[in-house]
Amino acid sequence: MKHFLDIHQTDASDLRGMIDTAHAMKTARNGRPKGAPDDDQPLQGRMVALIFEKPSTRTRVSFDVGVRQMGGQTMVLSGKEMQLGHGETIADTARVLSRYVDLIMIRTFEEATLLEMAEHASVPVINGLTNRTHPCQIMADVMTYEEHRGPIAGKKVVWCGDGNNVCASFLDAAGQFGFDFTFTGPETLDPEDKFVGFAREKGSRVTIQRDPFTAVEGADLVVTDTWVSMHDPESAKERRHNQLRPYQVNEQLMSRAKPDALFMHCLPAHRDDEATSAVMDGPHSVIFDEAENRLHAQKAIMRWSLGL
Ligand code: CP
Ligand code: NVA
Repeated sequence: MKHFLDIHQTDASDLRGMIDTAHAMKTARNGRPKGAPDDDQPLQGRMVALIFEKPSTRTRVSFDVGVRQMGGQTMVLSGKEMQLGHGETIADTARVLSRYVDLIMIRTFEEATLLEMAEHASVPVINGLTNRTHPCQIMADVMTYEEHRGPIAGKKVVWCGDGNNVCASFLDAAGQFGFDFTFTGPETLDPEDKFVGFAREKGSRVTIQRDPFTAVEGADLVVTDTWVSMHDPESAKERRHNQLRPYQVNEQLMSRAKPDALFMHCLPAHRDDEATSAVMDGPHSVIFDEAENRLHAQKAIMRWSLGL
Protein backbone atom coordinates (compact mmCIF):
# COMPACT_ATOMS: atom_id res chain seq x y z
CA MET A 1 0.00 0.00 0.00
CA LYS A 2 1.52 3.32 -1.04
CA HIS A 3 0.39 5.65 1.71
CA PHE A 4 1.87 9.15 1.62
CA LEU A 5 2.28 9.72 5.35
CA ASP A 6 5.54 11.61 5.62
CA ILE A 7 8.52 12.67 3.54
CA HIS A 8 10.92 10.69 5.77
CA GLN A 9 8.85 7.53 5.19
CA THR A 10 8.92 7.79 1.41
CA ASP A 11 11.87 6.74 -0.80
CA ALA A 12 13.96 9.68 -1.98
CA SER A 13 13.78 8.41 -5.56
CA ASP A 14 9.98 8.24 -5.39
CA LEU A 15 9.88 11.78 -4.00
CA ARG A 16 12.07 12.98 -6.86
CA GLY A 17 9.80 11.17 -9.31
CA MET A 18 6.74 12.93 -7.87
CA ILE A 19 8.36 16.36 -8.22
CA ASP A 20 9.27 15.58 -11.84
CA THR A 21 5.73 14.36 -12.56
CA ALA A 22 4.29 17.49 -10.94
CA HIS A 23 6.44 19.77 -13.15
CA ALA A 24 5.49 17.79 -16.26
CA MET A 25 1.78 17.84 -15.43
CA LYS A 26 1.86 21.57 -14.74
CA THR A 27 3.59 22.22 -18.07
CA ALA A 28 1.18 19.95 -19.92
CA ARG A 29 -1.80 22.01 -18.75
CA ASN A 30 -0.24 24.90 -20.63
CA GLY A 31 -2.45 27.62 -19.15
CA ARG A 32 -5.79 25.96 -19.88
CA PRO A 33 -8.81 26.96 -17.72
CA LYS A 34 -8.76 25.54 -14.19
CA GLY A 35 -11.85 23.41 -14.74
CA ALA A 36 -10.60 21.91 -18.00
CA PRO A 37 -9.56 18.26 -17.78
CA ASP A 38 -5.97 17.14 -18.23
CA ASP A 39 -5.23 15.26 -21.47
CA ASP A 40 -4.42 12.33 -19.26
CA GLN A 41 -7.37 11.12 -17.11
CA PRO A 42 -5.77 8.62 -14.71
CA LEU A 43 -8.43 9.05 -12.01
CA GLN A 44 -11.37 8.37 -14.30
CA GLY A 45 -13.89 6.28 -12.37
CA ARG A 46 -12.06 6.85 -9.06
CA MET A 47 -13.53 8.37 -5.92
CA VAL A 48 -11.45 10.29 -3.39
CA ALA A 49 -12.52 11.14 0.19
CA LEU A 50 -11.10 14.36 1.63
CA ILE A 51 -11.55 14.43 5.41
CA PHE A 52 -11.01 17.62 7.39
CA GLU A 53 -10.89 17.77 11.16
CA LYS A 54 -9.32 21.24 10.97
CA PRO A 55 -10.04 24.26 8.72
CA SER A 56 -8.43 24.50 5.28
CA THR A 57 -8.53 26.61 2.14
CA ARG A 58 -5.57 25.48 0.03
CA THR A 59 -5.54 21.78 0.87
CA ARG A 60 -9.26 21.44 0.42
CA VAL A 61 -9.52 23.28 -2.89
CA SER A 62 -6.27 22.04 -4.43
CA PHE A 63 -7.05 18.36 -3.75
CA ASP A 64 -10.61 18.76 -5.01
CA VAL A 65 -9.59 20.57 -8.20
CA GLY A 66 -6.66 18.20 -8.76
CA VAL A 67 -8.81 15.08 -8.59
CA ARG A 68 -11.35 16.58 -11.00
CA GLN A 69 -8.67 17.65 -13.49
CA MET A 70 -7.47 14.04 -13.52
CA GLY A 71 -11.01 12.76 -14.19
CA GLY A 72 -11.90 11.57 -10.68
CA GLN A 73 -14.60 12.54 -8.22
CA THR A 74 -14.30 13.77 -4.65
CA MET A 75 -16.32 13.95 -1.51
CA VAL A 76 -15.27 16.49 1.09
CA LEU A 77 -16.10 15.35 4.62
CA SER A 78 -15.94 17.29 7.84
CA GLY A 79 -14.72 15.17 10.74
CA LYS A 80 -17.34 16.71 13.02
CA GLU A 81 -20.20 15.69 10.74
CA MET A 82 -18.98 12.11 10.43
CA GLN A 83 -19.58 9.40 13.02
CA LEU A 84 -15.81 9.68 13.54
CA GLY A 85 -16.56 12.82 15.56
CA HIS A 86 -19.22 10.98 17.58
CA GLY A 87 -17.40 7.96 18.90
CA GLU A 88 -16.91 5.61 15.92
CA THR A 89 -13.35 4.32 15.91
CA ILE A 90 -10.79 5.43 13.36
CA ALA A 91 -10.17 1.79 12.46
CA ASP A 92 -13.84 1.16 11.65
CA THR A 93 -14.05 4.42 9.72
CA ALA A 94 -11.01 3.38 7.67
CA ARG A 95 -12.48 -0.04 6.90
CA VAL A 96 -15.85 1.40 5.88
CA LEU A 97 -14.45 4.20 3.71
CA SER A 98 -12.20 1.68 1.97
CA ARG A 99 -15.33 -0.06 0.66
CA TYR A 100 -16.53 3.16 -1.02
CA VAL A 101 -13.52 5.15 -2.13
CA ASP A 102 -10.18 4.57 -3.86
CA LEU A 103 -8.10 7.07 -1.87
CA ILE A 104 -8.37 8.90 1.46
CA MET A 105 -6.78 12.26 2.29
CA ILE A 106 -7.06 13.28 5.93
CA ARG A 107 -6.20 16.48 7.82
CA THR A 108 -6.30 15.81 11.53
CA PHE A 109 -4.88 16.69 14.93
CA GLU A 110 -2.93 13.75 16.37
CA GLU A 111 -0.50 11.89 14.14
CA ALA A 112 -1.84 8.69 15.74
CA THR A 113 -5.17 9.26 13.96
CA LEU A 114 -3.46 9.38 10.57
CA LEU A 115 -1.40 6.27 11.35
CA GLU A 116 -4.42 4.33 12.55
CA MET A 117 -6.36 5.32 9.45
CA ALA A 118 -3.48 4.09 7.29
CA GLU A 119 -3.12 0.87 9.25
CA HIS A 120 -6.75 -0.12 8.80
CA ALA A 121 -7.53 1.31 5.34
CA SER A 122 -7.23 -0.97 2.35
CA VAL A 123 -6.78 2.07 0.07
CA PRO A 124 -3.92 4.61 0.13
CA VAL A 125 -4.03 7.35 2.76
CA ILE A 126 -2.45 10.80 2.27
CA ASN A 127 -1.42 13.12 5.12
CA GLY A 128 -3.09 16.49 4.60
CA LEU A 129 -1.49 17.88 7.82
CA THR A 130 -1.27 16.72 11.39
CA ASN A 131 -0.03 18.54 14.49
CA ARG A 132 3.35 17.05 13.68
CA THR A 133 3.95 17.26 9.91
CA HIS A 134 2.66 18.69 6.60
CA PRO A 135 4.38 16.73 3.80
CA CYS A 136 2.16 17.82 0.87
CA GLN A 137 3.08 21.44 1.55
CA ILE A 138 6.80 20.77 1.42
CA MET A 139 6.54 18.78 -1.81
CA ALA A 140 4.94 21.91 -3.31
CA ASP A 141 7.69 24.06 -1.77
CA VAL A 142 10.50 21.93 -3.23
CA MET A 143 8.74 22.06 -6.59
CA THR A 144 8.41 25.84 -6.32
CA TYR A 145 12.06 26.37 -5.39
CA GLU A 146 13.26 24.25 -8.30
CA GLU A 147 10.88 25.91 -10.75
CA HIS A 148 12.48 29.27 -9.95
CA ARG A 149 16.08 28.41 -9.16
CA GLY A 150 16.91 24.86 -10.31
CA PRO A 151 18.01 21.97 -8.08
CA ILE A 152 17.50 22.54 -4.34
CA ALA A 153 20.29 20.08 -3.43
CA GLY A 154 23.14 21.86 -1.64
CA LYS A 155 21.18 25.08 -1.09
CA LYS A 156 20.82 26.87 2.25
CA VAL A 157 17.24 27.00 3.57
CA VAL A 158 16.57 29.09 6.68
CA TRP A 159 13.45 28.59 8.77
CA CYS A 160 12.49 31.57 10.98
CA GLY A 161 10.12 31.23 13.94
CA ASP A 162 8.24 28.26 15.33
CA GLY A 163 9.72 24.77 14.82
CA ASN A 164 6.25 23.46 13.96
CA ASN A 165 4.68 20.81 11.69
CA VAL A 166 5.67 22.60 8.47
CA CYS A 167 9.24 23.04 9.77
CA ALA A 168 9.35 19.31 10.60
CA SER A 169 8.47 18.34 7.04
CA PHE A 170 11.07 20.81 5.74
CA LEU A 171 13.68 18.99 7.84
CA ASP A 172 12.49 15.69 6.35
CA ALA A 173 12.90 17.19 2.89
CA ALA A 174 16.39 18.51 3.75
CA GLY A 175 17.37 14.90 4.37
CA GLN A 176 15.66 13.46 1.30
CA PHE A 177 16.49 16.19 -1.23
CA GLY A 178 19.97 16.99 0.17
CA PHE A 179 19.82 20.66 1.16
CA ASP A 180 21.16 22.42 4.26
CA PHE A 181 18.74 23.69 6.86
CA THR A 182 19.15 26.39 9.49
CA PHE A 183 16.52 26.88 12.17
CA THR A 184 16.32 30.23 13.90
CA GLY A 185 13.85 30.72 16.72
CA PRO A 186 13.58 30.59 20.50
CA GLU A 187 14.82 27.42 22.21
CA THR A 188 11.38 26.55 23.59
CA LEU A 189 10.05 26.32 20.02
CA ASP A 190 12.88 24.25 18.53
CA PRO A 191 11.89 21.52 16.06
CA GLU A 192 11.69 18.00 17.49
CA ASP A 193 15.04 16.21 17.79
CA LYS A 194 13.66 13.33 15.73
CA PHE A 195 13.33 15.49 12.61
CA VAL A 196 16.69 17.20 13.13
CA GLY A 197 18.25 13.76 13.63
CA PHE A 198 16.70 12.34 10.45
CA ALA A 199 18.00 15.22 8.31
CA ARG A 200 21.49 14.92 9.81
CA GLU A 201 21.58 11.14 9.37
CA LYS A 202 20.84 11.66 5.70
CA GLY A 203 23.78 14.06 5.42
CA SER A 204 22.04 17.43 5.57
CA ARG A 205 23.92 20.13 7.51
CA VAL A 206 21.40 21.27 10.12
CA THR A 207 22.21 24.34 12.20
CA ILE A 208 20.33 25.84 15.12
CA GLN A 209 21.13 29.54 15.35
CA ARG A 210 19.41 31.82 17.86
CA ASP A 211 20.39 35.07 16.13
CA PRO A 212 18.12 35.52 13.07
CA PHE A 213 20.49 37.89 11.28
CA THR A 214 23.39 35.46 11.52
CA ALA A 215 21.10 32.60 10.50
CA VAL A 216 19.84 34.26 7.32
CA GLU A 217 23.35 35.21 6.12
CA GLY A 218 23.82 33.70 2.64
CA ALA A 219 20.41 31.98 2.54
CA ASP A 220 19.02 30.74 -0.77
CA LEU A 221 15.54 30.42 0.69
CA VAL A 222 13.95 32.01 3.76
CA VAL A 223 10.78 30.40 5.12
CA THR A 224 8.38 31.18 7.91
CA ASP A 225 4.92 30.16 9.09
CA THR A 226 2.26 31.35 11.48
CA TRP A 227 3.37 31.87 15.09
CA VAL A 228 0.29 30.06 16.41
CA SER A 229 -0.77 26.85 14.66
CA MET A 230 -4.29 25.41 14.55
CA HIS A 231 -3.48 22.91 17.29
CA ASP A 232 -1.85 25.46 19.63
CA PRO A 233 -3.99 26.71 22.53
CA GLU A 234 -5.28 30.26 22.22
CA SER A 235 -3.73 30.89 25.65
CA ALA A 236 -0.24 30.46 24.12
CA LYS A 237 -0.78 33.36 21.72
CA GLU A 238 0.55 36.30 23.72
CA ARG A 239 3.67 34.49 24.92
CA ARG A 240 4.44 33.21 21.43
CA HIS A 241 4.06 36.65 19.92
CA ASN A 242 6.52 38.06 22.44
CA GLN A 243 8.99 35.22 21.91
CA LEU A 244 8.77 35.23 18.14
CA ARG A 245 8.74 38.92 17.34
CA PRO A 246 12.56 39.05 16.90
CA TYR A 247 12.20 36.37 14.21
CA GLN A 248 9.80 38.33 12.00
CA VAL A 249 10.84 38.17 8.35
CA ASN A 250 11.07 41.80 7.26
CA GLU A 251 13.07 43.60 4.58
CA GLN A 252 15.99 44.17 6.95
CA LEU A 253 16.26 40.44 7.66
CA MET A 254 15.78 39.48 3.98
CA SER A 255 18.63 41.82 3.01
CA ARG A 256 21.04 39.44 4.79
CA ALA A 257 20.08 36.56 2.48
CA LYS A 258 21.58 36.12 -1.00
CA PRO A 259 20.37 38.80 -3.45
CA ASP A 260 18.40 36.19 -5.40
CA ALA A 261 17.01 34.41 -2.32
CA LEU A 262 13.39 33.31 -2.36
CA PHE A 263 10.85 33.84 0.42
CA MET A 264 8.18 31.22 1.19
CA HIS A 265 5.21 30.94 3.53
CA CYS A 266 2.74 28.06 3.28
CA LEU A 267 -0.17 30.42 4.12
CA PRO A 268 -2.49 31.33 5.74
CA ALA A 269 -0.37 34.23 7.01
CA HIS A 270 -0.87 36.78 9.72
CA ARG A 271 0.51 39.69 7.80
CA ASP A 272 2.95 41.90 9.69
CA ASP A 273 3.39 39.31 12.43
CA GLU A 274 5.62 36.48 11.14
CA ALA A 275 6.38 38.33 7.88
CA THR A 276 5.77 41.88 6.74
CA SER A 277 3.58 42.64 3.76
CA ALA A 278 6.62 44.29 2.18
CA VAL A 279 8.34 40.87 2.11
CA MET A 280 5.22 38.85 1.29
CA ASP A 281 4.45 41.06 -1.70
CA GLY A 282 8.09 41.88 -2.47
CA PRO A 283 10.53 40.68 -5.14
CA HIS A 284 11.76 37.59 -3.23
CA SER A 285 8.31 36.20 -2.51
CA VAL A 286 6.91 33.14 -4.28
CA ILE A 287 4.04 32.51 -1.86
CA PHE A 288 1.30 32.29 -4.47
CA ASP A 289 3.36 29.98 -6.67
CA GLU A 290 3.67 27.74 -3.61
CA ALA A 291 -0.09 27.80 -3.20
CA GLU A 292 -0.63 26.96 -6.87
CA ASN A 293 1.94 24.19 -6.76
CA ARG A 294 -0.03 22.40 -4.02
CA LEU A 295 -2.35 21.45 -6.86
CA HIS A 296 0.34 20.05 -9.16
CA ALA A 297 2.40 18.37 -6.43
CA GLN A 298 -0.64 16.64 -4.93
CA LYS A 299 -1.78 15.40 -8.32
CA ALA A 300 1.62 13.72 -8.61
CA ILE A 301 1.33 12.34 -5.06
CA MET A 302 -2.11 10.86 -5.81
CA ARG A 303 -0.84 9.23 -9.01
CA TRP A 304 2.07 7.74 -7.09
CA SER A 305 -0.21 6.45 -4.31
CA LEU A 306 -2.54 4.82 -6.81
CA GLY A 307 0.27 3.59 -9.07
CA LEU A 308 -1.20 5.51 -12.02
N1 CP B 1 -0.99 25.71 3.54
C1 CP B 1 -2.12 25.05 3.84
O1 CP B 1 -2.14 23.85 4.08
O2 CP B 1 -3.25 25.83 3.78
P1 CP B 1 -4.71 25.43 4.25
O3 CP B 1 -4.72 25.35 5.74
O4 CP B 1 -5.57 26.54 3.73
O5 CP B 1 -5.09 24.10 3.63
N1 NVA C 1 1.50 25.42 11.08
C1 NVA C 1 0.19 25.72 10.53
C2 NVA C 1 0.12 25.34 9.10
C3 NVA C 1 -1.17 25.66 8.42
C4 NVA C 1 -1.21 25.23 6.99
C5 NVA C 1 -0.87 25.00 11.35
O1 NVA C 1 -0.70 23.82 11.65
O2 NVA C 1 -1.86 25.64 11.69
